[in-house]
Order: sequence, then structure tokens, then C-alpha cells
Amino acid sequence: MTQQAISSGAINLSQGFPDFDPPEELLAAAGEALRSGLNQYAPSIGDPVLRQAVAEHQRDRYGLAYDADTDVTVTAGATEAIAATLQALLEPGDEVVLVEPFYDLYPFAVVAAGGVPRYLNTSFPDFRLDLDRLAQLVTDRTRVILVNTPTNPTGQLLRADEIRVLGELAERHDAYLLSDEAYEHVVLDGLEHRPVAADPVCAPRTVTVSSVSKTFSATGWRIGWAVAAPELSAAVRAVHQFVTFTASAPLQRAAGMMLQSAAGGDYYRRLAADYAERRDVLLKDLQATDLEIGRPEGTYFLMTRCEGDDVAYVRELIAGRGVAAIPASVFFSDPARGRGLVRFAFCKRVETLRAAGERLARTATP
Ligand SMILES: Cc1ncc(COP(=O)(O)O)c(C=O)c1O
Repeated sequence: MTQQAISSGAINLSQGFPDFDPPEELLAAAGEALRSGLNQYAPSIGDPVLRQAVAEHQRDRYGLAYDADTDVTVTAGATEAIAATLQALLEPGDEVVLVEPFYDLYPFAVVAAGGVPRYLNTSFPDFRLDLDRLAQLVTDRTRVILVNTPTNPTGQLLRADEIRVLGELAERHDAYLLSDEAYEHVVLDGLEHRPVAADPVCAPRTVTVSSVSKTFSATGWRIGWAVAAPELSAAVRAVHQFVTFTASAPLQRAAGMMLQSAAGGDYYRRLAADYAERRDVLLKDLQATDLEIGRPEGTYFLMTRCEGDDVAYVRELIAGRGVAAIPASVFFSDPARGRGLVRFAFCKRVETLRAAGERLARTATP
């Protein structure tokens, strides 16, 4: 869709990357790190400043106790953390329970690690977990339950009762929880992110993954981390050591400095407020279209539903109205289950969103 948007000159609200720069402070920290001699391999487990900053972040924001030396591993983005965790934990044929619609990486990462995906379907507009169905899906064959909160592409947050059930099922069947919390700071309307590991039943068996991509608008930096109890971290590290070995040394240090500085200020509050504003700008203009609109609690995605086929709808959107989105049936193992769903990204400057909105509204009410 990004390719089509570029070739047809459409405004690209498809792929989830910001069209604005990271905070100036992060860029300055990177410049400083580059000039301070941090240009050789960082330790494989990660730069000590970043590991310490991640451990403090988990403690200060969520009350979670992790040791920077044994429990935090720095990776090349959340992507590598997810892939390394799955490779570390899965034996061939082990099952992984995934919630669908899913972030498109997940099934491929599971299969590449020798696992077998099992899907828990959720539906527009609320996408709540069906806990009875979940209980049927998790069995002694399940090795990992993979969740994502806030959830891409649905924009929903996991609830405390859902997290507790995930933990109880994992405990009963001796499975692990892999919790992708890459959007932990993109939570809207004063709602709060609830880390899966904050539930005491989940904590000992959870690998939590996050990164600088969404929190600091730096998807190109490829710096992320996995946080887990020491034995789980050791397994993740064993894979990471022989896949990427280590992530970019100066950018790790800069991310550590930025995390430390954000802890003391109102960076996270402003990030969430800016995203709520961007969401509102897009929402207003989408309301003038024929789409049925969901309401995201977090992430920078807005899920909508069209009449008929989403792929045809998005093609028309690009060619006829000059705005690109994602046909969200691609986020389902069986696209028929997601037919008619269209995802818009609002991680764009307000001017970009206004321009897209004008195009959408103009053609909807000729
Ligand atoms: C749910 C989710 N997890 C992980 C990622 C990838 O994160 P990273 O850029 O840190 O690899 C994305 C990127 O879009 C995402 O949406």
C-alpha cells in the first residue's frame, strides 16, 4: 500500500511510521554518543545505561522489579525481541496462541521458529477476548500465548480480567506469555497501559517486549528490548547472541539517556496528548465518509468497517480519493473473517491528517 501510495501520489495513512522526527533531545543524545567513542560493539546483552534505564522505567511506571544485568536484553527493535523469544522457547510443533487480527509479523515469526499458530478471533468494533474460546485453545500443547497491548491493528487495551485469565491458563498448561507492549506510551484519553507482567500470576512466565520505535517516534533506529526473569532472559540472550549479536551501540546509549530524561518530565503525557489530537483530527473527517468507525484506546491506528470488500475499497480510496489505508483482512489467518475492515494510521503531522481529511470529506459529500 505504501508503494501504491507513492506511485499514485496518495497521502499515506497505511504503514505505521511517523512523518515527523523524534524529539530533539534524542537526536542530540545520538550525536553526543557517536562522538564519545561508542562506535564499536556494545555488550551483546545491551548497553549498561540503556539496560539500567529500562529496568528503572519498569519499576517507576509499573512497580515491576527487574535487574538490569540479568533481566533486560537489548535487541534490534521489538521485532528481534519477539523473534528471538519465540526461537528461544519453541520446540518444533509447539503451539502458539495468537489473537487475531494480529500484527502481521507474528504468524511468520512463529512458523519460522518451528511453532504452530492457533488463532483466537476477535471482532469489530470492541475486539474483546472470548475467554471461553481462549480456554479451549490453550492446551498442554501450547508453549506460548502471544499478546499485544495496546493492540495493533485494533487499538484496544487488554483488561485486568483478561490478563488474569491469560496468566491462569499459562500457569495451568505450563506455557509462557510473550507480551508485545511496543505502544505502551501511546494510550489515549487518560486511559492507562496495564503491563501483563504487573499481574502476579503472569509475572514469572512473561517476556515483555518494547522499543523506541513508537515511544520516541524512531522506527528506523531499530532499538528494542526484552524484559523477563533471569532464566527466560538467558534463553532469549542465547538466541540474540548468534542472530544480531548486538544492536547499534551509539543509538542504544542515546535511547538510555532519553529514557532517563523522559522519566523526570512530562514527555509521555505530551506524547499521548499529541496522539489524541491527531486521532481527533482524522476521526472528524472519517465521520463524513460511509465508513463505520471504531474508537481506539491506544496505538496510532483507527479501525473502520466498509460495506463489501476492504481490498477493493482501499484500491478505490487510493485511486479515487488519493488516500492510502490498509485493507485489514490481511491481519487475519482467514481473510474472510476480516472482510470489510480498513485500518488508518494517524502517526502523521496534523497538516498531513487535515489534508487527508479534506480529500476524504470532499469526495464523500460531493
Ligand atoms: C505491535 C507491534 N509490535 C512490534 C512492532 C515493531 O517494533 P520495532 O520497530 O521495535 O521492531 C510494531 C511495528 O509496527 C508493532 O505494530
